Amino acid sequence: MGSSSNIIPKVRVGGSSSIPVLGFGTAVFPFVGSETMKESILHSIRLGYRHFDTAAVYNSEPSLGEAIAEALCLRLITSRDELFITSKLWCSDGHPHRVLPALQTSLQKLGLEYIDLYLIHFPVSLKPETGHEVPFNKENIVPMDFKCVWEAMEECHRLGLTKNIGVSNFSCKKLDQLLLTSNITPMVNQVEMSPLWQQNKLREYCEKKGIHVTAYSPLGAKGTPWGTNQVLDCEVLKEIAEARGKTVAQVCLRWVFEHGVSVLVKSFNKERIKENLEIFDWTLSPEDCHKISQIPQQKGVSGVEFIWDGGPYKSVIELWDEKI
Ligand code: A2P
Repeated sequence: MGSSSNIIPKVRVGGSSSIPVLGFGTAVFPFVGSETMKESILHSIRLGYRHFDTAAVYNSEPSLGEAIAEALCLRLITSRDELFITSKLWCSDGHPHRVLPALQTSLQKLGLEYIDLYLIHFPVSLKPETGHEVPFNKENIVPMDFKCVWEAMEECHRLGLTKNIGVSNFSCKKLDQLLLTSNITPMVNQVEMSPLWQQNKLREYCEKKGIHVTAYSPLGAKGTPWGTNQVLDCEVLKEIAEARGKTVAQVCLRWVFEHGVSVLVKSFNKERIKENLEIFDWTLSPEDCHKISQIPQQKGVSGVEFIWDGGPYKSVIELWDEKI
């Protein structure tokens, strides 16, 4: 099982950085346990994964850090620079003076001197005392000061603690608002995207603005509190998969990749970690893509936990700026 880091293509973004188009996601609630997480990451590094996605709120930063240290010890990689590591600012740290300390804490947990990408996790803040506990009390939801929080993100970039900065779960309207005052354009907007939630409008907008899109929950995040079986159980996808001799998961990942979007997939199963990598030596036909474009749309992540009459978003439409 030799290392084959060259099998995952990279896409150049933000001038100087390249993102491996397939990444390993670590958002799982309840947490799978540090040993399972670490072993799955090490296995994926052996297979050629080089892009890893974590967040302060996932509890996975320490396991990812341990896996990176072990991969270096085992010489699965020769330098940390071979990896692309993303982490995210949790909402309770979404206050200007808390951004830098939050990134420093993430770096400490990861055992790294820098990360490749730091994202604002959601376009909303929580009172600092909320901490990283989820679920949280809705009375702690407060508006995010985009201008000042983004300035603090820019400072993290200037200090070299993160090579790039970006956002997650931002709509076109919220990006417009952020871009009004930003000096650095977000490198990435990481959002839910799958054949069941195709994000046509947002992708078009991001392309125009030079913001790379990264997809999360490409398989529907089955088994998580926000997940759905409907992606992997979708009949149209099953038919395409069967006709091509691929799995539904591979069809989903290939479909995202063919849209110029990088994709984060999670698996803690060795065979499926390998299966998810096998999407680069075949293509979907125009007919397949047409069939997928006709699939009725249904968002998985509702963000309902951020909806409160006393907060900045009183409905899911206000959070996403569209009907979901
Ligand atoms: P498992 O860890 O048992 O493989 P997403 O990436 O959209 O968040 O979805 C993650 C979920 O999909 C997990 O429950 C994961 O379970 C499952 N999964 C990951 N890869 C595959 C695959 N190739 N086939 C079926 N299920 C998969």
